[in-house]
This record gives sequence, C-alpha cells and structure tokens, in this order.
Amino acid sequence: MPTPVMPTSRQADGPVSSAAVSAIGLRKSYGDKVVLDGIDLHIPAGSVFALLGPNGAGKTTTVQILSTLITADGGQAQVSGHDIAAEPQDVRASIGVTGQFSAVDGLITGEENMLLMADLHHLPRSEGRRVTAELLERFDLTDAAKKPAITYSGGMKRRLDIAMTLVGSPRIIFLDEPTTGLDPRSRHTMWQIIRELVTGGVTVFLTTQYLEEADQLADRIAVLNNGTIAAQGTAEELKRLIPGGHVRLRFTDPGAYQSAVSELREATRDDEALALQIPSDGSQRELRSILDWLDSTGIEADELTVHTPDLDDVFFALTGGTDKAQEAVR
Ligand SMILES: Nc1ncnc2c1ncn2[C@@H]1O[C@H](COP(=O)(O)OP(=O)(O)OP(=O)(O)O)[C@@H](O)[C@H]1O
Ligand SMILES: [Mg+2]
Repeated sequence: MPTPVMPTSRQADGPVSSAAVSAIGLRKSYGDKVVLDGIDLHIPAGSVFALLGPNGAGKTTTVQILSTLITADGGQAQVSGHDIAAEPQDVRASIGVTGQFSAVDGLITGEENMLLMADLHHLPRSEGRRVTAELLERFDLTDAAKKPAITYSGGMKRRLDIAMTLVGSPRIIFLDEPTTGLDPRSRHTMWQIIRELVTGGVTVFLTTQYLEEADQLADRIAVLNNGTIAAQGTAEELKRLIPGGHVRLRFTDPGAYQSAVSELREATRDDEALALQIPSDGSQRELRSILDWLDSTGIEADELTVHTPDLDDVFFALTGGTDKAQEAVR
C-alpha cells in the first residue's frame, strides 16, 4: 500500500540537523517477525510528536531504539544531534524516558524514588533535594512524598514516574503511553503537565492508544502499522485523508430547501432536517468552489457547517478497521 504523501516537516523546518529526533530507515526484527520495516521520522525541537498504532505495532520498540535501550538492525537516527549508534551516552544525557511500565520502586517512598534519580544524575545532594521538592509539588505528590510508593494509586504512580523522568532536566522526553489507565481528570492533569513542558521548550515524543490525546497534544501524528508509517501529518491532515468529510447545508424555509434539492442532485438529502450533505475534504479550495457554485445558483442556506472525520475514523482506516476504509487510503 503506498504511503499517502503528506508534507513532511523536513521541508517546512529546514535541515534535518534542526530536529530533536530524526530517523531514516529504522528496522528491527525479532526472529523472523519484522517489527519495524523502515521508519523515517523528523521531529522539530520544541514540538509534540505522537506515535499511534494498534497493540504490537512497534511503538515501544521505536521508543526503545531511539532511547538507546535496544539497537536497531538497520537505519540511522539522531537524537538531540547525536547518533544513537555512535554516541549513545550523549543521547542518554539529553533525554528522559518514561516507559510503558512503571520504573517506580514500590518499597521506598516517592521522595526516595526521586532522590535516587537525583543520585543517578550525579546532582549534588542539596540540588537533588531542591529538585525533588519542586517536582513533587508540581506533580501534586507532596502529601504522599513520605509514603511507600506501593500505597499510591495508579495515577499517582504515573505522575511520580514522569516526575522521576524530569529530574535530570531533559530537553527531549519519551513518554510511552503516559495516560493509559488514568481517569479523565488525571489524564487532563497529565496533558496540562505535557503542555507546560513544551512551553518550556522540551520536545515530547509520546505513544498513545487514545486518539483524542494525540488530537489534543500533538503537533504531528504518525500512525504505525505493519512495520511502516501508514500516514503522518497534523491531526487535520490525517482526517482529510479519509472520506466521510462533508459540507452540510441547512435550510429553514422548505421552499428554499426544495429548490436546493433540485439544483444539488448529488447531495445526500435529509428531508426531515431540511439539510443537504455535499461530500468534501474540507479544504479551502473545495470550500471555495462549493461557495462559488452556491452563489452562482442563487442558493442561500441558513447554516453551513464543515464536518471532517475524527481521528478514530482515521485510525480504523489506516490500521485495517474495514476493507472499505482500507480501500479509501490506497
Ligand atoms: N524482546 C522481544 N522479543 C521478541 N519479540 C518482541 C520483543 N519485544 C517486542 N517484541 C514484539 O515486537 C512487536 C512490537 O512490540 P511493541 O512492544 O513495540 O508494540 P507496541 O506498539 O508498543 O504495542 P502496545 O500497544 O501493546 O504497547 C510485538 O509483536 C512484540 O511481541
Ligand atoms: Mg508499547
């Protein structure tokens, strides 16, 4: 299946070297199972990138390769300007990683987990205490700081996990499913934290199963399927890739509706609502031609709305939801 061509940020943001993360042709297999079959990525510094894909698509594998936890079988990647194969120590010094599964040690307190991270980053003791207190406060964990982490709820543990990742003030952070299992309030808190990090200039690479999360946070989204990037772009660009988008014209006067129906034979009718749907990708060019055409025929709708498919539609289309949807992106 050819990859739908989207404008790449490489064109928009200049040379690859300005990227926080760039990768070309990354490959990884386990035995004869090909997990990544040539992945290209370009993530500008200070942006949020979301990697989507069904279970087993290779999201965690990609994070592990880019954070030098495992090596790729082929391809190249630079993280923070350092080659992952040649300069793994430099890569590690510039990143923070929150894995899919918690790195929190349950037997010691939240504060002790934080101080341990400060030691690992060779922070002087007083600096370690200062950073720990500040992050515990920021993640609303001060009250629980002296309790063993095993007593924390899932959401508290996840917040501690991310607080631990931030101890070394990384410029690039990898968050592998940061909000899986969190309730809606905790999820929104996490989104707020991620937005604040980005405001501070941090680059965020996140994986998620939640399309709404990608929609809310990410500047660019890539959908991983069958070892390759099936599509990437902004949420809006991805939504325009699949059919289902339309312009809806609603009328209040039945006479005006009837004359529009006779002019617009290809439109889908909704006689009850006095509304017509015209298929459209929602692009400026298509909208302009629809509006011009309405003007030329003298049709005046009382309400005109543009509907684009949501990211769920895109996800199903790109990752084998239905044959019809698959066909649409071919
Ligand atoms: N150490 C390993 N040995 C063998 N196979 C592995 C190993 N790690 C991952 N895999 C396989 O690689 C594939 C991709 O796994 P990965 O964990 O990257 O997927 P994922 O997209 O993160 O999935 P999920 O959404 O479930 O977290 C899976 O088929 C998995 O079974
Ligand atoms: Mg995973």
